[in-house]
Amino acid sequence: MTPDQVKLVQQSFSQVAPIAEQAATIFYDRLFEVAPQVRAMFPADMTEQKKKLMATLAVVVNGLSDLPSILPAASALAKRHVAYGARPEHYPVVGSALLWTLEKGLGQGWTPDVAAAWTTAYGTLSGFMISEAYGTPQAAE
Ligand code: HEM
Repeated sequence: MTPDQVKLVQQSFSQVAPIAEQAATIFYDRLFEVAPQVRAMFPADMTEQKKKLMATLAVVVNGLSDLPSILPAASALAKRHVAYGARPEHYPVVGSALLWTLEKGLGQGWTPDVAAAWTTAYGTLSGFMISEAYGTPQAAE
């Protein structure tokens, strides 16, 4: 990721931060719509899960300017996900639901540059998490 892309991700995320709860709801609604088979992996009551997701995204987004600082936590998160039943092929599905949510949440703020920055950010993070959890040869850059 270029420094400009890091800035775009951080600025755009700060725009959805005030509507974090709503954004999390949109995200999971979308995820369960496009991938109903993963619904049963999550608790019935998603209240806490939504908070955890948005808090973790905030940490990751902040950490993009110092990637090595978040890699240990991202690795541990990825390994916990193996026990949750997450598979490598789920990551792109989650990524597209996330991008879709940001597009809805940002409206006019979802420019091609912002979209490209988020695509790169998610690709980097998920590539790293997959390689940590499943050993697929994909490196974070
Ligand atoms: C970059 C991608 C992802 C991020 C940032 C993320 C974030 C989180 C966080 C913060 C939690 C709370 C528990 C914990 O910290 O261990 C969690 C739980 C969970 N995630 Fe993810 N996740 C990601 C990808 C995925 C994928 C690809 C799946 C596959 C469907 C998935 C399914 C789950 C499930 C099933 C739980 C546990 C629910 C429970 O039993 O409480 N996540 N995730």
